[in-house]
Amino acid sequence: SFSSTSARNAIKNVTVIGGGLMGSGIAQVAAQTGHNVTLVDVSSDILKKSQENIAVSLTRVAKKLYKDKPADGEKFINDSKSRLKIDTDASSAVKDADLVVEAIVENLEIKHKLFRTLDEAAPSKTIFASNTSSLGIGDIASVTKRTDRFGGLHFFNPVPVMKLLEVVRTHDTSEETYQAMMEWGKAMGKVCITCKDTPGFVVNRLLVPYIAEAIRMYERGDASARDIDTAMKLGAGYPMGPLELADYVGHDTSHFIIEGWHKKFPDNPLFVPNESVKKLIQEGKLGVKTGEGFYKYK
Ligand code: CAA
Ligand code: NAD
Repeated sequence: SFSSTSARNAIKNVTVIGGGLMGSGIAQVAAQTGHNVTLVDVSSDILKKSQENIAVSLTRVAKKLYKDKPADGEKFINDSKSRLKIDTDASSAVKDADLVVEAIVENLEIKHKLFRTLDEAAPSKTIFASNTSSLGIGDIASVTKRTDRFGGLHFFNPVPVMKLLEVVRTHDTSEETYQAMMEWGKAMGKVCITCKDTPGFVVNRLLVPYIAEAIRMYERGDASARDIDTAMKLGAGYPMGPLELADYVGHDTSHFIIEGWHKKFPDNPLFVPNESVKKLIQEGKLGVKTGEGFYKYK
């Protein structure tokens, strides 16, 4: 059964760099789906927290998958945990990796520093991918000598629940690398779509301006926050309204994205940051994670 090219080249060992919100989710799903996973972050304390978050999420997933079979659910949790190692040394963690998925802080200089190090440490066959929300994949890859084995793998929050994976090809991404990323996405249980290396790929390119426009509507007083959210949930079938979703994503995260695009593309009216969001950020109201944004969560 290992005769086909895809089975021979299948990605088995995955290293995820960054054990925050996204990296923890990516590592969890990779472990759940039978991969050998190493999760890397800068400190053991952070990684301990990542493991705790993964344990909570695994329990939720097990409850759903093995509703009437708690023993099988328990086995699923333990098997997944046993496939997940942690490490604070990125260089040693990529030595046997077939694939590295980077999910560290959204900062080009910091990502460059990491990928320079990884490029030296990883075998030449290792595929590199970034989970960036808003930076160019080609811009990130440019500091490595493996731009043909580099692509975008963009997941969505919460990773264990959201079914989509955006697979991003740059001008340099090889066909083989692209196929391997698509195969891996399927093995992760995700539905893959392909996108060129453009700002925000598909989802954020549409979602970020949509949320900003909803906030402008709220700023003008056209409708209340509640009514805008109710409208889009019941009138357009979205699971969350745009202001709820902005609170959920975090105002620091989405503001950073739109501000970056606004600087790069100042003439695009879709990329104009919102004044009310700047005010929320100044007040420390970043959304669900701080207990308050457009709404209160405490
Ligand atoms: N881990 C495991 N399971 C989870 C989970 C997690 N972190 N979060 C939720 N779930 C499960 C719950 O256990 C629950 O399972 P059951 O159906 O068996 O009860 C199910 O998901 C639904 O959860 P809830 O009942 O708590 O709440 P909900 O029905 O409102 O769903 C939601 C929550 C899935 C987040 C849903 O509201 C939703 O899809 N919201 C939109 C999310 C979205 O748009 N995400 C993309 C943001 S943009 C992005 O990520 C890109 C970027 O670059 C910024
Ligand atoms: P986060 O702040 O929750 O986690 C980032 C983690 O990276 C932190 O634990 C931090 O300690 C660690 N880190 C920073 N520098 C590091 C380094 N040099 N080596 C190892 N670890 C390092 O951030 P997040 O929300 O998980 O986002 C991570 C990436 O995913 C970003 O590029 C972001 O744009 C992207 N993304 C975010 C979302 C979202 O909704 N939050 C969705 C899709 C993609």
